[in-house]
Amino acid sequence: MKLWQTADSMDARIEAFTIGNDPVLDQELIPFDCQATIAHVTMLEGIGILDAGETKKLIASLNDLINLHSSGQFHIQPDQEDGHSAIEEFLTGRLGDTGKKVHTGRSRNDQVLTAVRLFEKSTLEQLMALADGLAESLSLFGSANAGIPLPGYTHTRKAMPFSVRDWAMAFHDALKDDVKLLKGTYELIDQNPLGTGAGYGVPLPLNRQVTTDLMGFSRILENPMYAQNSRGKFESRILNDCLMILYDLNKWASDLIFYTIPDLGYFNLDPSMVTGSSIMPHKKNPDVLELIRASYHLVAGYEYQLKMIPANLISGYHRDLQYSKEPLMRGLKTCRDVLEASQVVLNGLSVNQDNLNKAMTPELLSVQKVMELVNSGMPFRDAYRQISQIYKPDNPEADS
Ligand code: ARG
Repeated sequence: MKLWQTADSMDARIEAFTIGNDPVLDQELIPFDCQATIAHVTMLEGIGILDAGETKKLIASLNDLINLHSSGQFHIQPDQEDGHSAIEEFLTGRLGDTGKKVHTGRSRNDQVLTAVRLFEKSTLEQLMALADGLAESLSLFGSANAGIPLPGYTHTRKAMPFSVRDWAMAFHDALKDDVKLLKGTYELIDQNPLGTGAGYGVPLPLNRQVTTDLMGFSRILENPMYAQNSRGKFESRILNDCLMILYDLNKWASDLIFYTIPDLGYFNLDPSMVTGSSIMPHKKNPDVLELIRASYHLVAGYEYQLKMIPANLISGYHRDLQYSKEPLMRGLKTCRDVLEASQVVLNGLSVNQDNLNKAMTPELLSVQKVMELVNSGMPFRDAYRQISQIYKPDNPEADS
């Protein structure tokens, strides 16, 4: 039986269609939904809706549920529609009428917002830690390889001298910027939507400060209509930050695919990172880097879905918003997986100093030669033209 069900049963196909993937997706939200429910019942006791005994039992059961979930023993049943229903059924099954009181003063509309927001905060904390850790490792990689040269490329052709350290620090600096973006988004979303009900407030003297403090939100999301309208907006902001991380790691992976081409052999991937070919026995392929690279496009697609789903809806809740969960959760998971895989790749990455020394061919110094002439007083354009003669195809000095 559904939470909202009062009369006839629903057409089975329509029921399955409207439930969609919720039982699977909400499974991951259960601990956060329970955390919010604990805050909610504590607040309900404070305003006299629940007595101390009822509150104690509800909190004990919710903690049991969290433990059952973490040991893999709590599963939302397909006919339970969603995690919110599964939690209420669990409490009612255990505590009877006391369980039936748990939904007092809330709607699934603010319940889902709250659970998703807690999940987002926790995942953003993980992403910030992973991105910071990767940035730190890149800096260590740079220091460990300080002094080793690397040709800088433009148009995939050798351009000017660079260094392995500066290459690594380019991605260190990029990830540090991404962490700043994540922090900004974390602050933005750190608002408690619980207590906004279906989107128009709740005619009970709810104490929203209590639930805000109990759940660790920094402030109350005051306007109930904005609470609903923020669904999709906050989520696309989050995925945009993930996309920035994936943008940087896409380029990092592309660099590594290039630097590890056997013909160049600037860097070596650890043998445990490469994959083989089913037909060509000699192949050692950088599949991991290709998938890191491709994840950017995957998450760009999820972000696009998130931007589209809530657009053009009038203010307030619509079932369309249910579809925001999957791209959000997939996007966050992809970003976390990519950060973790990148860390493993970096741990096994080594530099082939001999090949890099050999790769530092003289044409990389063309700009330096121009600047030497400039320093001796020659106008830049004249110096440029003079030096460019060296690199004419028919000049025997060209490849010296
Ligand atoms: N699964 C729903 C969602 O994610 C939960 C909220 C349902 N609310 C409703 N009014 N039908 O949006």
